[in-house]
Amino acid sequence: MKEELAAVYEELNRLKEAGLERVAIAPETLEMVEALLPKDSPKASKVEVLQPEATEAIPVSKTPEKPVAPAPEPDPPAPAFPEPPVIDLPEGTAAEQLEALRAMVNACETCKAHLSGDGKVVFGTGSAQADIFFCGEAPGADEAKVGEPFIGAAGQLLTKIISAMGLDRESVYIANILKWRPEHEKPYGNRPPTLEEMRFCMPYLKAQIEIIKPKVLIALGNIAVTGLLGHDPKRRMGQVRGKWHDYEGIDLMITFHPAYLLRNDTMKTKRMVWEDMLEVMRKTKLEISEQQQGFFLPKD
Ligand code: URA
Repeated sequence: MKEELAAVYEELNRLKEAGLERVAIAPETLEMVEALLPKDSPKASKVEVLQPEATEAIPVSKTPEKPVAPAPEPDPPAPAFPEPPVIDLPEGTAAEQLEALRAMVNACETCKAHLSGDGKVVFGTGSAQADIFFCGEAPGADEAKVGEPFIGAAGQLLTKIISAMGLDRESVYIANILKWRPEHEKPYGNRPPTLEEMRFCMPYLKAQIEIIKPKVLIALGNIAVTGLLGHDPKRRMGQVRGKWHDYEGIDLMITFHPAYLLRNDTMKTKRMVWEDMLEVMRKTKLEISEQQQGFFLPKD
């Protein structure tokens, strides 16, 4: 129970850090939260509920009639960041340039200073000739331990998505906005990268994209979108997902992060992501079988 509330609290903090100032709460969600509250707590439904059709969100900061709990301790101030690195790549093949860039990232003092314990910098993996470049958020604990992106639970789902497309991890490229695991005090979960952290690391990702020159970039989730397209507190995943965007002349598809899919494990969300992948397959001229067309459609 406590963990569920902690997860809700963490998700709200994560949205706030990603720049969201308002959050819409559906009546069902509110009911669920209320069910988690101790019996004598003031009802959460004192909060004005946003109906699904409504377009105006509720300010998170709205002052409740009576304070229900002491304010949580503010996070300690984030350490100041130096200016983002300026990357000067040597001449060579794409594979040679990627290796030179990997060496720069491994030697990056700021990246190293943010590693916790025996955590590793996570550069990226895949083909220097990839047509499709998947961009995630930041390494989690599993990735930092091994130094490879997307190998934990969300990563295993991403690997399944890639193989459903008829590809494998070696024929695409996978990297994150942030090259280290964002450190935090809590014993569970991940902290989303701050804008400052993303700003520092973006030149590394930009250089990876410039070297590989993929036909299509896929932004996995909101943080990847913020890193690639810039911070926009008004941007809504529901509005930008499943559509083509542009990142410096490269077609960019936005889809849900696999971790979101794990939390919302329904045929509907799986099909939404799969339709985004079908779009990517069409754009990159991959053959699509009838079976692939029909993945995650309701059976009649
Ligand atoms: N989530 C990400 O965004 N990247 C990873 O590498 C793993 C999980």
